[in-house]
Amino acid sequence: MKVLITGASSGIGRATALLLARKGHQVLMVSRRKQRLQEIAESSATVVGELLFDELDVSDVSSITAFVSRQGEWLKDVDLLVNNAGLALGADPLEQNSTADISRVLETNVIGLLALTRAVIPFMKARKSGHIVSLGSVAGSTPYKGGTVYCASKAAVHMITDCLRMDLGGTGIRVSTVSPGRVAETEFSEVRFAGDAEKARKPYEGYRTMSASDVAESIAWIVLQPAHINIQELVILPTDQPSATTLEPLQ
Ligand SMILES: NC(=O)c1ccc[n+]([C@@H]2O[C@H](COP(=O)([O-])OP(=O)(O)OC[C@H]3O[C@@H](n4cnc5c(N)ncnc54)[C@H](OP(=O)(O)O)[C@@H]3O)[C@@H](O)[C@H]2O)c1
Repeated sequence: MKVLITGASSGIGRATALLLARKGHQVLMVSRRKQRLQEIAESSATVVGELLFDELDVSDVSSITAFVSRQGEWLKDVDLLVNNAGLALGADPLEQNSTADISRVLETNVIGLLALTRAVIPFMKARKSGHIVSLGSVAGSTPYKGGTVYCASKAAVHMITDCLRMDLGGTGIRVSTVSPGRVAETEFSEVRFAGDAEKARKPYEGYRTMSASDVAESIAWIVLQPAHINIQELVILPTDQPSATTLEPLQ
């Protein structure tokens, strides 16, 4: 397969890129930190597929336009798009969120996802096959305090996926959402709390979390189903997180 993964410089995106490349696929990793992507590509000796990389800021329409024209030949046979790039900024009530932060979250998690997906669809349609997998979250279906903007952005991802599946009916293109609960040891919490390591660690302390590799395994399982099967949504939480807002460490 030829696989395009956004936000592949860290966490779930990186783990998914490495896993699919280890399984023999050609993966084009994109994100804003090109140097980081290059390091991942160069340090992955066990890969039997191929790890390519390019710079892409999904929140910037001109970056998407430039990427699509640069990679037009490669995109002609893209099999899989993983819309993984995403972030939360802070965990405060809405009135304490800055306009800049609100815009950045929505431009990355929603507008960027729509814009890149829209750009990739014609290539998949031309070949009557393809798969678009987007990272939702349990936060997209269950609200939590301080999550107004992030939860709204992930709810949008869920609805985008569900509508898109209908738009693309009859084209052979599959559309799926992966909705994880808490995934530790990614940069998500560090970004959310602006580098405050103490605050970033707290949500993951005292119970068994999932890792980025756990989620990558789920994504690989979905995309390696036969072409006539579409796993529409996969919800995956740690055993110690019985619901989106409940943590119950093993007694
Ligand atoms: N961690 C969790 O508990 C959790 C739970 C449910 C869902 N998720 C979702 O899973 C996805 C991955 O999260 P993660 O935990 O792996 O976080 P992460 O380690 O912070 O990774 C986020 C990735 O997104 C990229 N990114 C951010 N803004 C971007 C932009 N404008 N353009 C392109 N790439 C951008 C970052 O790369 P650059 O900085 O290099 O651009 C990074 O590679 C997100 O959509 C997140 O909402 C996470």
